[in-house]
Amino acid sequence: MGTLDAAAQPVSSALVRRHGRTQRAAHWWIVVAFVATVLDSPEEADGLDAGLILHISTAGLLLLGVLGVVVLGDRRALAADLRSLMVFDDTDRAFLRSLRRPRTERRPVRWGKFNTGQKAAAWVLAVLVLGIFVTGVGAAALGLGGVHGAVLMLTYAVLAGHVVMAVLNPATRPALRGMLTGAVDRAWATHHHPAWVAQVDAVSAHSQGTSSTPS
Ligand code: HEM
Ligand code: HEM
Repeated sequence: MGTLDAAAQPVSSALVRRHGRTQRAAHWWIVVAFVATVLDSPEEADGLDAGLILHISTAGLLLLGVLGVVVLGDRRALAADLRSLMVFDDTDRAFLRSLRRPRTERRPVRWGKFNTGQKAAAWVLAVLVLGIFVTGVGAAALGLGGVHGAVLMLTYAVLAGHVVMAVLNPATRPALRGMLTGAVDRAWATHHHPAWVAQVDAVSAHSQGTSSTPS
């Protein structure tokens, strides 16, 4: 189970705090810098010209921004979220085992903050983004632009799925509010991430109990 941070406390009976400022800043910085780097990309490497320097600079800004968020932001919250996102736990293992059974015999899964699909996509994206940087250096230094282009195509495919889930799919679209404002609808969260909501509520009840205990 991932630990919880102060930003994950409930904000009202109707809303639950899902992503703190640090996580949102990191996410949207990556989105803006990634899109800028795609838009300023050179068609082909022609020595270290102004176009390539701009391209490498915006790619560098992506990394610098993330580093800035890590240095200035809530590192504990970020680390807790990274753990919940990247570590496959008993719930994921039970879910993967349940896939062998017919759909009608499967019990509903009590997901934590992120489900198995989100974790798998996060790993795939992390490897692809690393691949973009490595092959970018290969394109600039060795003229291997084709490999960079191929990794980018795979990344676009995964990101297209991610954006469809975030913006279009009615079942998952309520999560967008959490990435924009920090909080999500409690009823939605209880349906899609019940173990996480229970954990947020338990931490909140504990901290209220602690703060109301006379010293
Ligand atoms: C977030 C990081 C990056 C993104 C999103 C990105 C995106 C792109 C895109 C969309 C293209 C055009 C590809 C095509 O038309 O096939 C391109 C080309 C290129 N990129 Fe990147 N890139 C990134 C990082 C880098 C880095 C770090 C370097 C170098 C250190 C680099 C060097 C190049 C070069 C040399 C080309 C021209 C490729 C050729 O000769 O065909 N890129 N990049
Ligand atoms: C306009 C484009 C994008 C939108 C609308 C978007 C939206 C979102 C939303 C709503 C979440 C929160 C999901 C939740 O709370 O369960 C999220 C999470 C995440 N996003 Fe994005 N995103 C975009 C682009 C990107 C890009 C470019 C990357 C990386 C290169 C990325 C990586 C991630 C990761 C790793 C997560 C956490 C795991 C997940 O929920 O899938 N996103 N995004």
